[in-house]
Amino acid sequence: MAEKLHADDRTPIRYDAAGAGPVLVLVHAFPLDRSMWRQQVAALADRYRVIAPDVFGFGESGLPAGGWTVDSMADALAKALDGIGITEPVAIGGLSMGGYVAMAFARRRPDRLRGLILADTRAEADTSEGKANRDKMIALTREKGPAAVFEQMLPKMLTDRTRAERPALVAKAQRIAAAQSPDGVAAALAAMRDRPDAADGLSAVRVPTLVLVGDEDAITPPEAARTIAGLVPGARLETIPSAAHLSNMEAPDEFTRLTRSFLDSIP
Ligand code: MLT
Repeated sequence: MAEKLHADDRTPIRYDAAGAGPVLVLVHAFPLDRSMWRQQVAALADRYRVIAPDVFGFGESGLPAGGWTVDSMADALAKALDGIGITEPVAIGGLSMGGYVAMAFARRRPDRLRGLILADTRAEADTSEGKANRDKMIALTREKGPAAVFEQMLPKMLTDRTRAERPALVAKAQRIAAAQSPDGVAAALAAMRDRPDAADGLSAVRVPTLVLVGDEDAITPPEAARTIAGLVPGARLETIPSAAHLSNMEAPDEFTRLTRSFLDSIP
């Protein structure tokens, strides 16, 4: 099911696609790749054309020389969709880093948007302390590799209970992170560090919007989700019980159920 989208002549974006119907684009979290959406792609393909791309530098997508920004990634997605003949407005959903890209897409291409799903993400730009921490993480990536970066994040990625009782899920997330390239992970850290504040763009959103958050998310906590929901006119906010940051992997059925009910409600 992997196919290639061309963002430009040199940098391919690899994606999974399944199903037919209104388009749903799902953008993954850091430092994972499109495979984190496997359950949602399989489940939602009964009614939707689901497209899950690898962000630049992750999975099988290329890394542009000079890196990327959330804006350049959003523009590349729009262009890549054009390239496979999807010119109608789409629903776009992103989790965490994917949410930053989805917010950039909403800001830059409102003409291409019919619905927005923002999961476990935040509107605010990094604080100066957050930016300094990104630089430390870039150094850690260079020194010890993506697996070490993920290990540092793991206590906040999945709940205590999941880490104690679901070793297969923990191992799956670790495996995906460990498979990423240091260059790709470092470029994403720089893109996240440099992303703009999304508040104004969110206030301008005029399409149905769903905000999702794991109730135990300690990276982008429920308060951050409430802020987003307060910015987007008419946004729906849903909290996913017993889930931390990677809510779509930790509570895949509930994540899919909420996503489906939202998508089905888009006129
Ligand atoms: C993610 O899960 O994509 C990242 O934790 C987001 C971030 O670090 O801001």
